[in-house]
Amino acid sequence: MRKLVLGAGALAILATTLGSLSWTTVKADDKAATGGKASDEAVARTRKQVKMLDDLYKTAVVLITTHYVNDEDDLAAGSAAVALFDAMKKKGWHEVRLLDATGEPIEDNNSPKDEFEKAAVAKLKSGESYYEQVVDKGGKPHLRAATPIPVVLDKCVMCHEHYKEFKAKNQIIGVLGYTLPIE
Ligand code: HEC
Repeated sequence: MRKLVLGAGALAILATTLGSLSWTTVKADDKAATGGKASDEAVARTRKQVKMLDDLYKTAVVLITTHYVNDEDDLAAGSAAVALFDAMKKKGWHEVRLLDATGEPIEDNNSPKDEFEKAAVAKLKSGESYYEQVVDKGGKPHLRAATPIPVVLDKCVMCHEHYKEFKAKNQIIGVLGYTLPIE
């Protein structure tokens, strides 16, 4: 019973935190240059898929952190998510990167790398709730999209001490970067 109550609590926190994010801001500056082959309908369908995946991954991380991560030595939900992203990529579904937006990542590989990732982190840090670009990848149009990660739980600070100051200022600490084929 207690578990159920906790679960509902975590979901309520997630809903409150993420519920404030709106999906109205859309940036597709380079669409004409790179993704001319993708119809508006196909891009909209892919954007909806990103939205669904974003809810799925973020809800899973909050639930895992709430119920299974109790001290610093436990497997972080972030590490589990990175393993899950690898599996999804190997199976050919889509690519997701867990990106740092603070300049102090635990894993260097999580620093924003290419132009899209750097631009996405800068835009979302400045308060935008969503950033996207249609790109050509292997001759096929792909949607690259980015969503913000706030400090959703106090527990996050257990392993990322510097998140405390970001939480106090209500600033995001990370970004999820998606690459999906537009079909
Ligand atoms: C048990 C320790 C632990 C907790 C608790 C934890 N993390 Fe992490 N976090 C990690 C580890 C370890 C990584 C590196 C994952 C990887 O790339 O394999 C990571 C990576 C990240 C990254 C990517 C940047 C980086 O530092 O490498 C973000 C963003 C992130 N975590 C956010 C969160 C949020 C939000 C929470 C709370 C819901 C949270 N973390 C809770 C350990 C933790």
